[in-house]
Amino acid sequence: MADDGIAVSGLTKLYNNVRAVDDLSFTVSPGRVTGFLGPNGAGKTTTLRMVLNLVRPTAGTATIGGRRYAELADPVRKVGALLEASGAHRGRTGRNHLRMLCDAAGIPVGRADDVLDTVGLASAADRKFKGYSLGMRQRLGIAAALLGDPDVLILDEPANGLDPEGIRWMRELLRSLAEQGRTVLVSSHLLSEMELLADDVVIIAAGKLVQQGPVAQVIASTGGAQLLVRTPRPEALLAELGAAVTATPVEGGALRIVGADGPTVGAAALRAGAEIHELTVERRDLENVFLQLTAGKADIL
Ligand SMILES: Nc1ncnc2c1ncn2[C@@H]1O[C@H](COP(=O)(O)OP(=O)(O)O)[C@@H](O)[C@H]1O
Ligand SMILES: [Mg+2]
Repeated sequence: MADDGIAVSGLTKLYNNVRAVDDLSFTVSPGRVTGFLGPNGAGKTTTLRMVLNLVRPTAGTATIGGRRYAELADPVRKVGALLEASGAHRGRTGRNHLRMLCDAAGIPVGRADDVLDTVGLASAADRKFKGYSLGMRQRLGIAAALLGDPDVLILDEPANGLDPEGIRWMRELLRSLAEQGRTVLVSSHLLSEMELLADDVVIIAAGKLVQQGPVAQVIASTGGAQLLVRTPRPEALLAELGAAVTATPVEGGALRIVGADGPTVGAAALRAGAEIHELTVERRDLENVFLQLTAGKADIL
C-alpha cells in the first residue's frame, strides 16, 4: 500500500459566490491517522465529498493513490467512507443493512458479520436501526465503511454522538487500521478530541488551509510554552520581557504569556524586581493553537 496517500491540490468549491473551499492543498499519508479539523462551516464535508467524487470541484484536483476517485479500478475495495447523515432504513436490522450493501457492492454477505464484530455491534446485529442510539448508528456507519476491507478510509465526523468510551474505542480502531498500513482521514470540529486521535492534522478555516503536519509539530510551531504568571508588578515584568512575548490578562489578575519559557520569565522578574506569586507552565493543546493561528484573521473566522 505504498502509494495510497491522498493528495488535494488547489481544490476550490464555489456555492453561488461563497467560497466553501478555497484553493486548498494538503496530503494525507498511509499508515497514519490524519485529523481533518476546522470549525463548523469550514468546508470539511465539501472537501471530503469532492475527494469522493460526490461534489464537482470548481477548480483543483483530489487524488487517491495518484488517481481521481472516478478513475479508480475498484473503488469499493479501495476506499471506504462514512459521510454525515448516512443512515439506514429505520425498520431494517443492522445486519440486513450491511448485507444489502454487500450485495450492491459484490462483496460476500458473510463480511457483514465480520465488520459488526469489528465495531462491537454483534450483539445488536438483529435489532432494528430505529432502535439504535446515535453512537450505535455511528458504529454501523463505520462498519459499512469497512465492508470492502479498503486501503483508504474517509470518515466525516465519526465521533459525533459517541460517548467518551466510544471515542476511546474509535481511537483504538483507527490506530489499528493505520498500523495495518491503511490511510485514515477523519474529520472533526472538536480539536481537543482529535489531538488524542490523530498522528497528523490538517487544519482549515473558511475553506483555507491554516496548518498541516504532525500534531506535536503543529503545536510546537506556534512557539514554545505558555505560562501563567502572577505578580503584583505586571507592568515592570512585561517591560523587562520586551516585545518578543505576547501577554494577555486572565481573571484574578494573572497574565498568560506566550513566547518565553520559565527561566526567561523568572530572570526577567528578578531584574525587574517583580515578585512572583505564581508561575505555571500550561500545556498547549490544539484548541489554543488554533485560536492563536487564526487570531486577528477576521476574514478567516
Ligand atoms: N450544497 C450546498 N449549497 C450551498 N452551500 C453549501 C452547500 N454545502 C455546503 N455549503 C456551504 O459551504 C460551507 C462549508 O460547508 P461544509 O463543507 O459543510 O463545512 P463543514 O463540514 O466544515 O462544517 C458552509 O458555508 C456551507 O453553508
Ligand atoms: Mg461537515
